[in-house]
Amino acid sequence: MPAPLRLGVNIDHVATLRNARGGAVPDPLRAAELALAAGADGITAHLREDRRHIRDDDMLRIKAAIRAPLNFEMAATEQMLDIALAIKPHAACLVPERRTERTTEGGLDVLGGHDHLKPFVAELGRAGIIVALFIEPEREAIEAARSIGAPAIELHTGAWCNAVLDTNEARAEQEFARLRAAATLAFETGIECHAGHGLDYETARSISRLPQIVELNIGHFLVAEAIFIGLDAAIRKMRAAMDAGRAYPE
Ligand code: PXP
Repeated sequence: MPAPLRLGVNIDHVATLRNARGGAVPDPLRAAELALAAGADGITAHLREDRRHIRDDDMLRIKAAIRAPLNFEMAATEQMLDIALAIKPHAACLVPERRTERTTEGGLDVLGGHDHLKPFVAELGRAGIIVALFIEPEREAIEAARSIGAPAIELHTGAWCNAVLDTNEARAEQEFARLRAAATLAFETGIECHAGHGLDYETARSISRLPQIVELNIGHFLVAEAIFIGLDAAIRKMRAAMDAGRAYPE
């Protein structure tokens, strides 16, 4: 029996929509509560330096209102560290952040950033926060994550999802093989393995077959689907896709 697979629903883009009008709706907290009722195991939100979607107050309200795990995505900066230590989420995922990017385009530079990241992981860990590093599916990145002392990693699935969307079968296969090898190495190293970025029903079903992966974080596709079928239905359909993949582990 493979380990259970958790679904973390990223609600950033509910806040993106709210901010487009500058008012109070749609409320990301309402989305978080609905996501949990629909079967999500936790809520993920990224407080970006430019506060383009989730804001400080959203994080506070969500942490105060939900009992399920909150996964705080953050850049490794002193300001974000202070906020995370004050909010005390269940988990934190350290991500790279560039002001000009539309989304998190690549994994952390864990090799070059090794000495910068290590004290962040240690300090968050001392506060009881489980830290994951968002990395590319590469051997060197996993070895660096181990040396940094991270208890978890999140594999960036963006390159694979793009190859699937482009219907480039050869590239998709190559990218999936990288994810498989990285998940296997993480498992052997004793690092908890998560994955996310760009997942839809189809790719979520496929990656759920990798038994070493215990958590998927999914946002944009679910919020997009919510426009057409509702957030509750989109999350239930995603959960079913994950369960269908998990039923046939590799
Ligand atoms: N995981 C991490 C670390 C991310 O930065 C993001 C995007 O915010 C996601 C997962 C979710 O990606 P998507 O919104 O494409 O599902």
